[in-house]
Amino acid sequence: MTTQTIPQELDGAELARAVADIPLAEIDVARPSLFQSDKVGTFFERLRREDPVHYCAESAYGPYWSITRYNDIMAVDTNHKVYSSEAKLGGIAIQDMHSDQSNLELEMFIAMDQPKHDAQRKAVTPAVAPSNLLLLEPVIRERAGEILDSLPVGEEIDWVKSVSVELTTMTLATLFDFPWEERARLTRWSDVTTAIPGAGIVDSFEQRRDELIECAMYFKGLWEQRIDQPGGTDLISMMANSSATREMPFLEFLGNLLLLIVGGNDTTRNSISGGVLALNRHPDQYDKLRRDPALIGNMVPEIIRWQTPLTHMRRTALEDSEIGGKRIAKGDKVVMWYLSGNRDETVIDRPEEFIIDRKNPRQHLSFGYGIHRCMGNRLAELQLRIIWEEIQKRFHFVEVVGEPERLLSNLVRGITRLPVKLHAH
Ligand code: HEM
Repeated sequence: MTTQTIPQELDGAELARAVADIPLAEIDVARPSLFQSDKVGTFFERLRREDPVHYCAESAYGPYWSITRYNDIMAVDTNHKVYSSEAKLGGIAIQDMHSDQSNLELEMFIAMDQPKHDAQRKAVTPAVAPSNLLLLEPVIRERAGEILDSLPVGEEIDWVKSVSVELTTMTLATLFDFPWEERARLTRWSDVTTAIPGAGIVDSFEQRRDELIECAMYFKGLWEQRIDQPGGTDLISMMANSSATREMPFLEFLGNLLLLIVGGNDTTRNSISGGVLALNRHPDQYDKLRRDPALIGNMVPEIIRWQTPLTHMRRTALEDSEIGGKRIAKGDKVVMWYLSGNRDETVIDRPEEFIIDRKNPRQHLSFGYGIHRCMGNRLAELQLRIIWEEIQKRFHFVEVVGEPERLLSNLVRGITRLPVKLHAH
């Protein structure tokens, strides 16, 4: 048996036995189908136990190291001097960045090392400071309420399409004070930014480039309308009027803007869907939530751990080093599997369980660690808290009535379809 030939129908103990039979050297956890079938956890379990720093010599992405234990991931993520995020070395995902082919040299600080990273991050951070975000809270709440009020009760709907995508697009439009009627463009540009040409969203690198230029021109228009009008609380006004960001070269502005759009789009969308699934799979926790809605604040980080919206981040070793007794050579690709670290039983109590009143719920790796730790983490939590408060006000039970469908991706842990029925109070 190899990673490829594990039969689809295997699950539970049978799957664990089959995975145990694969020679360690042949395990390749980066195969997107393992995430789509949600079987990858069994592979991670074995690696954490038997070979926590694992070398895969052959894969669709070339050779790579898998780091699967919580503490080893922390060690890599906090050691940016040795483990680089630089785009020209390959960037931040197991699939090397191909920015050269799109002919748009977007600069994003998530794929930069110091000192440039630090300067750019510092310039944009005020835009997502908690004090600013709280100003947006009433608008997000009102619009979330409108979307939820428009849903049919008692009929089967797809939660992803009707709610998660709608709510995330709405929040993005609110954050940017983007023309409301045109908000679907934001979702499109976000999808285009991360699209692999030929895989469904765009057909070619040219199409991708053209659409991103269109995006650039659109934002340029908004930027020009809002410059010299201080006091705006949306992200564009803040960036256009802050001394730290107003002089940014345009492609740098656009790159960082797209980072803000993409960073919060799929991740939040899948956390909204993941939360519904988690509560359905743990009915005792759903009861607990109904009895005490004040637990939402604690439940939100637990949803983010349980879902782990980004399965991994990748680094490239700048020099020879050692992790968990293994020698990593300069130039090696090092993949930190957050999804595995968040299930590490030696660090997290009963990690497979979803526990909404878990002590220390922010002890998870979903936002990464170190200098690149998610800049929008408080914003993500704020959005999810508002959304869950509004869901709980309206519905007694968001009942999952069919199997979820998952995204074919080894980076975004996505739920593409989730059939539900809503039950009012
Ligand atoms: C970086 C996850 C929401 C903006 C990151 C990283 C992860 C992550 C794993 C990289 C950390 C690393 O390389 O060590 C998530 C998750 C979210 C979320 C799971 C939702 C549940 C958001 C939102 C925004 C955002 C709403 C919008 C402002 C960013 C930015 C970075 C980043 C700008 C780059 C930070 C840097 O390189 O210094 N995020 N994110 N994220 N995220 Fe998020």
